[in-house]
Amino acid sequence: MKTISNGFCRFIQYFSALIVVAFLGGCNLDTRMSTFVTKGPIAEEQLNLFMLTVWVTGIIFVIVGGVFVYAVIKFRERPNDDRPMPSQGHGNPLVEIGLIGASILLLAIIAVPTLRAIWFTQETPDDPESRLGAWYQGDDLAEEEAENPLIIKVIGYQWWWAFEYPQLGITTANEMIIPAGKVVHLELRSIDVIHSFWLPRIAGKVDLIPGRTNSMWIQAGDNFAKWKEKQGLEGEGPELRQDYAKYLEEEIHDYYYGQCAEYCGESHARMLFRTTAVDDQAFAEWVADEKAGHGTPDGKSWDEWYAAYEETPEELTGDLNEGLKLFMGRAKCATCHTVNGNPRAVGVAGPNLTNIGSRQSIAAGWLNHRAEDGSIDVEKQYDNLYKWIHEPEVVKPGNLMWKANGGGIGELIDEHGEPALLTDEEVSKLSLYLQSLK
Ligand code: CUA
Repeated sequence: MKTISNGFCRFIQYFSALIVVAFLGGCNLDTRMSTFVTKGPIAEEQLNLFMLTVWVTGIIFVIVGGVFVYAVIKFRERPNDDRPMPSQGHGNPLVEIGLIGASILLLAIIAVPTLRAIWFTQETPDDPESRLGAWYQGDDLAEEEAENPLIIKVIGYQWWWAFEYPQLGITTANEMIIPAGKVVHLELRSIDVIHSFWLPRIAGKVDLIPGRTNSMWIQAGDNFAKWKEKQGLEGEGPELRQDYAKYLEEEIHDYYYGQCAEYCGESHARMLFRTTAVDDQAFAEWVADEKAGHGTPDGKSWDEWYAAYEETPEELTGDLNEGLKLFMGRAKCATCHTVNGNPRAVGVAGPNLTNIGSRQSIAAGWLNHRAEDGSIDVEKQYDNLYKWIHEPEVVKPGNLMWKANGGGIGELIDEHGEPALLTDEEVSKLSLYLQSLK
């Protein structure tokens, strides 16, 4: 009996060790959701605070664990042990007061930097180089807005994200574009339940709460001054500026993963978002592109297209026109979605679909068609769009596209009141149309 239990104990020991090794083997710190390889001041501040806490609690662990292990080994019962029971003491005032004092000291060591970090992350810095007017080359900027940093309103929905850029008059969804190295002020709120904004490598987490606006600031990469400080460089000059631009290009311009970090319903795990940090010029081009929106598939004006749509729809031929007709009509997409440019696609219950064809993922980051090299895998994009429109309730259970108030595509009915879901051909045409929005 004894040998069996010894053998079993040994098995448990080896097995546990194996599990620990297996887990540690899975630790790659340089991943897209890593909080250890930071890309900006907020994440860096949070990592520093985390590491300080790890050190303090680690020291406590070693001291307490060390005393414990020492006592267990030193005073364990041995075979034929005839030593007397060690003296049993408790209530030593010196030890108790000492431990209380030590706890207070350790808490203070953690509390001071914690408070400092909270203030740091709460107060959007006024960095002259981050003021919108200092770097944004687009037009239509009110004078007072030029003095502010870029503002993005982040709005949480079950289960996707809206990103509004009020100073620039654009709204996008699920993929947020930000300028690298610049302070960006975020205002976060929710339409339905509590969500949480978490962009691990850059910043996080701040909750989105219904009926309340939270704020935070983020910055992908360091600004010029901070970068110089870290490099031990001083002064100004075009060469330094070039090196700084190179740093942004090589280390910061990237595609970052974000995730809702507060349980918010059945598809919480599928409420992802993506952030791309770009240079100033690419940002201005992106804004202009969003503002311009889209024309009709064959170059007609929208007035002409709608006249034909109402009077002679059979003349609007080709996959894209057929797709657009479905978008405006039977599939009811325009009831909930906006496409800039299209005067009648102005729905706001669902994501803004302007340039959805240029996004690297759909369904709030859940269906990804980004190729290894950063380009869009067009075939995969088509497959993803098809899958999403064909069976949204499978891709993202509980989502409104399937069962919306007033009818989603799972509730399409014909004139006899019978279910009349989109046919495979219709889904295909809608997918092709959406793919063309870029
Ligand atoms: Cu939104 Cu979890």
